[in-house]
Amino acid sequence: MCGIVAYKGHKKCFPILLGGLKKLEYRGYDSAGVACFYNNKINVTRRVGKVKELEEAINDKKSSKNCEGLGIAHTRWATHGEPNQKNAHPHLDQSNKIAIVHNGIIENHEPIKKFLRSKKIQFKSDTDTEVLVQLIGYFYNKGKLNFEQSVRAALQRVDGAYGIVVLNKDHPDMMIAARKGSPLVLGIKDNEFFIGSDVSPIIKHTQRIIYLNDSEMAVIDGSSYDIKSVDKDVSLPKKVEKIDYKIDDFDKGKFKYFMHKEIHEQATTIDNTLKGRTTKDSVLLHGLSEYWEEIQHAKNIYITACGTSWHAGLIGKNLIERFAKVPVHVEYASEFRYNHSIIDNETVVIAISQSGETADTLAAISKANDFGAVTVGICNVPGSSVSRETDCGVHTRCGHEIGVASTKAFTAQISILYLLALKLADSRKTITKSALKKHLAMSNAKNTGQIQIKSLLRKEKAIKKMAEKYQKASDFLYLGRGLNFPVALEGALKLKEISYIHAEGYPAAEMKHGPIALVDKNLPTVFVVPKDHTYDKIISNIEEIRSRKGKIIIVTDSKDKILRDLADDLILLPKTNQYVFVILATISLQLFAFYIAVAKGCDVDQPRNLAKSVTVE
Ligand code: F6R
Repeated sequence: MCGIVAYKGHKKCFPILLGGLKKLEYRGYDSAGVACFYNNKINVTRRVGKVKELEEAINDKKSSKNCEGLGIAHTRWATHGEPNQKNAHPHLDQSNKIAIVHNGIIENHEPIKKFLRSKKIQFKSDTDTEVLVQLIGYFYNKGKLNFEQSVRAALQRVDGAYGIVVLNKDHPDMMIAARKGSPLVLGIKDNEFFIGSDVSPIIKHTQRIIYLNDSEMAVIDGSSYDIKSVDKDVSLPKKVEKIDYKIDDFDKGKFKYFMHKEIHEQATTIDNTLKGRTTKDSVLLHGLSEYWEEIQHAKNIYITACGTSWHAGLIGKNLIERFAKVPVHVEYASEFRYNHSIIDNETVVIAISQSGETADTLAAISKANDFGAVTVGICNVPGSSVSRETDCGVHTRCGHEIGVASTKAFTAQISILYLLALKLADSRKTITKSALKKHLAMSNAKNTGQIQIKSLLRKEKAIKKMAEKYQKASDFLYLGRGLNFPVALEGALKLKEISYIHAEGYPAAEMKHGPIALVDKNLPTVFVVPKDHTYDKIISNIEEIRSRKGKIIIVTDSKDKILRDLADDLILLPKTNQYVFVILATISLQLFAFYIAVAKGCDVDQPRNLAKSVTVE
């Protein structure tokens, strides 16, 4: 969703704030803005569009360029109110004393606005955020509460989610941050303080981090800080953690796009995900040890997630049911949170999330916790809300993912689900020791990352050429069966997200029950075809499309002539087993979507209307 960065220290603010916003731009890019102190006033600059528009505006403004010491900045993904300048953050209260940047949604903004209007407060924007800053200003300007008390009083009256940083003209040495439902981290370096929606704008400056929990606020005053409760005026003991993200994770290196870099990184990320988590005859997953007794005896398992992570969940279901023989239900987190699933203390709920901050996934975890289920997080961001709010979990360890379209996180998630399915099967004795050993040998780095993915990536030019040929298509069908049905869904999602071409993923045989009506000479259909037990059936499905003159693109590891004859175009993957096939097919479809989007001139890393982590319902 939106990105927040704030700085308090002795340096010039703008290089730090703008540098930070550029790192956060993947979270939203409808507008950007900054506020800082200059000539005893809070000076605000806001622009519609990307951070570079804001940068140009600041470069023209002496007041902005020279601000020192204290500033807040924001990049917006619009929720309430159009993405125009008046709705861009930071927002000021009516007295122009209080400035705020906010990520989240204030759900009861209407009644509060009505109340404030009755107190003669006028609104300049259509945002829920302005309601919050006006409420803080209202309490502060009444004169009975100090700055910190006014922020607390306002936060105690709002419903919904917030990650905020607030400045006050009367307190040029103070900055207050608070969170509920929207992540915020505080970075500390001697007498300098950095706040970010995640660590990306901070990591360049310091590795010493405090993760704020829900209903906590950080009060930074002069060169000291205090973490307090939003609910009452008490200090909370907090640990400063040392994080070891690599700064390289936040740079594009030799690539023009983060997405491209992240696709390539899969040659090593999967090995990082698997490393140290197996021996030759067992799966380790230490993060689950404390709850393993309950997990292995689960009566049923729910997997809940959104988007790409939900697709990984579908693969997880297939693997867990196949190896461990436990019933698994996969639910969109946004549905799970309101539906009537049968959950109790014999249920295990696995939440999958790259960011660990997706609002619906967090709500699903909270529901599962309330019902007494054991909650397991599969997440890429240590310290994130999913990591903290589940009973136990496994980190996917694929490094920071910045491209808005998820790539390396998906293949890391399915690698963990594969290990989890095998570990469950081992404990439940639904797999023989020799079969387990064979699988573990297969998950060995040499078979996955090092050799086969690199060999696929060497075919990139051919995939690029093919993608350019199809850039003008307006619709695509993606079809697969079994483990490759989610691969088809994921291929279609990648294409529509970054190229804006309509694409649908379907189980290959289900296509006859509707989508086949779309087929004509203009509709390309991508078939994902491993040489396994589904092979003959898929050939029949291909024939059905071909006889209706549809264009056929085949992704396969088989050299069979029959496929070459049926295909208009074919991506030949390195010969492999059915599990690694899923990863290779996914990567080839990520590249296919990437090159179509590039050929169409789309902004691959920042597709329109999307944001990297969806921290609102
Ligand atoms: C698609 C994509 C989204 C995310 C979804 C869940 O490329 O990135 O569909 O997968 O928003 O996000 P996480 O995994 O962070 O919970």
